[in-house]
Amino acid sequence: MEQRLWEQLHLALTLLLLNLGSAVTGDAPHNCYGAPGLPGMPGMPGKDGRDGLKGAKGEPGIPAPPATRGPKGMKGEPGSPGLPGKKGPSGPPGAPGEPGMMGLAGEPGMPGSYKQKHQSAFSVTRQTKEHPLKNIPVIFNHVITNTNHDYNTTTGKFTCKLPGLYYFVFHTSQTANLCVILHKNQRRMASFCDHKTNTMQVSSGGILLRLAVEDQVWLEVNDYNGMVGIANSDSVFSGFLLFPD
Ligand SMILES: *[C@@H]1O[C@H](CO)[C@@H](O)[C@H](O)[C@H]1NC(C)=O
Repeated sequence: MEQRLWEQLHLALTLLLLNLGSAVTGDAPHNCYGAPGLPGMPGMPGKDGRDGLKGAKGEPGIPAPPATRGPKGMKGEPGSPGLPGKKGPSGPPGAPGEPGMMGLAGEPGMPGSYKQKHQSAFSVTRQTKEHPLKNIPVIFNHVITNTNHDYNTTTGKFTCKLPGLYYFVFHTSQTANLCVILHKNQRRMASFCDHKTNTMQVSSGGILLRLAVEDQVWLEVNDYNGMVGIANSDSVFSGFLLFPD
């Protein structure tokens, strides 16, 4: 404030001196004053003005020069392979593979048991001096031969297990008239009758029968039932498979 006042005062004084000067020049012959003084020293520079308004946007600049890098070079040789990496964890198990080729045929096996499996033969005797009951199976209670228990000494019946052609035969000792009837299931297949003419006599009969599994064969007597089985006078019933089917 004080400085500004001094600046204004200084300016006013300067102007006054200039006016005085011109007056002196114009009225030089009649001037009774002394020569005008020297001009004063220039004042101090003023303070900077306030910032001006923002200028207008300039022209677009010059495009930058192209890259100084040269053209792309040729592809180089592949480098040497690196060291093998670490072994990874094992993966999940794969799906089962296709079945393999059929193997070669094996060695011939041991001889089979054909003979044993296809055996059927029995010979049974009736060991009693008692005559058998009529019209029911005669029981031959003593076994001489009986493969696979095909003849049942409790029922007096032969039961077929292997189908085929069988031969049945009996040789009986008798002390009275005797008729022997051979049954296949409920059917009478053959009858052999003999009247007693001697103290002890023998009669016999045989037959071939084709049997299926479960067919049964047995002997019966009727009113003529003089069959016995005593010392030196046996009664034997036999049967066997001649040809299996
Ligand atoms: C004989 O037949 C009887 C009566 O059917 C039976 O109980 C028995 O088991 C048979 N025996 C054999 C050796 O098959």
